[in-house]
Amino acid sequence: MSLLFSKTTLGPLTLQNRLVMAPLTRNRAIGNVPNELMAQYYAQRASAGLIITEGTSPSPNGLGYPRIPGIFSAAQVAGWRQITDAVHPLGAKMFMQLMHCGRIAHPLNLPPGARVLGPSAVAAAGEMFTDAEGMKPNAMPAAMSEADIETAIAEFAQAATNAVAAGFDGIELHGANGYLLEQFIRPTSNLRTDRYGGAIENRARFVLEVAEAAIGAIGKDRVGIRLSPFGVFNDMPIYPAMEADYLYLARALDALGLVYIHLVDHSPMGAPPVPESMKAGIRSAFKRTLIYSGGHHVGLAESNLAAGKCDLVAVGRLFLANPDLVARWKSGAPVNAPDMSTFYTPGPRGYTDYPALTA
Ligand SMILES: Cc1cc2nc3c(=O)[nH]c(=O)nc-3n(C[C@H](O)[C@H](O)[C@H](O)COP(=O)(O)O)c2cc1C
Repeated sequence: MSLLFSKTTLGPLTLQNRLVMAPLTRNRAIGNVPNELMAQYYAQRASAGLIITEGTSPSPNGLGYPRIPGIFSAAQVAGWRQITDAVHPLGAKMFMQLMHCGRIAHPLNLPPGARVLGPSAVAAAGEMFTDAEGMKPNAMPAAMSEADIETAIAEFAQAATNAVAAGFDGIELHGANGYLLEQFIRPTSNLRTDRYGGAIENRARFVLEVAEAAIGAIGKDRVGIRLSPFGVFNDMPIYPAMEADYLYLARALDALGLVYIHLVDHSPMGAPPVPESMKAGIRSAFKRTLIYSGGHHVGLAESNLAAGKCDLVAVGRLFLANPDLVARWKSGAPVNAPDMSTFYTPGPRGYTDYPALTA
């Protein structure tokens, strides 16, 4: 009996299976507005139980990368509406990932008047692609004032409301992979001495206030969060209190009652592995749905589900390359390999032209 392909629930929602399409930034949203090509791409993958969208900015300030979508303008809400309208009749539920890039950004990617922000004025090592001038060093962020923090929290809440208005079943806060929420959690990017910095109770405050505001806007059954303890992407080094900090966070998120934690383990992409003790600690601290992500093939997905380690399994690169991944895995058919050269390039090539199995 396959658990992966059997129905389940996520809060009040019924999912047609336990396979989740992981959030995948694809940079096809010209002008930061979702379009018809994106609707086609997501509809092709609607046999998933749940689709989590690519990282989508709640604010002009959060658009660190070129051609990523937002959810703060009427045009963006209308653009996303055509996507949820295309996907829902085909069966998948949809959550929007809210990604504020914070310091992983370059001003050339931002609209006029927007600012690169972070918890502290500490630039991330590494470079950012810009359409105008190619690779540039990540910008030095402005340390957020209390007023900036209040504004950002309000933007997340409004974005959650907008996502529901666009037809989404819920939102995922991007608390992983070195973006703004994780920049507050980690002591190397957050050097603040006010109530948002220092001890973990303070470094977690922004994330928890954002979660609380999103819950206030759309309800706890519609708000999940992605976390990457031990993740090092975007200049986020390992530090000694990592496990204790994330256990604190998992307990606090459990108290808020979010519908899921989406736990990233990027060791299949070369990152340090997430210790089993960390995964088990989060499983026992957080009572609602747990999603695993990173390096799953069908066998590993089934065994993690069967062992009760997680409730849903999210798949990134294989879903990118196989619009009909569910059918392929069900039948044991071979899978297409992802083409890295077209991950982030505009247009349909390497986006909507991966072949499906012919009937
Ligand atoms: C092209 C690409 C874009 C990605 N964009 C995002 C993103 O927008 N948000 C996010 O949380 N993770 C993002 N990820 C990470 C994936 O969601 C996933 O965690 C990762 O690919 C590992 O899972 P996999 O082994 O199944 O591919 C991205 C990964 C890839 C390959």
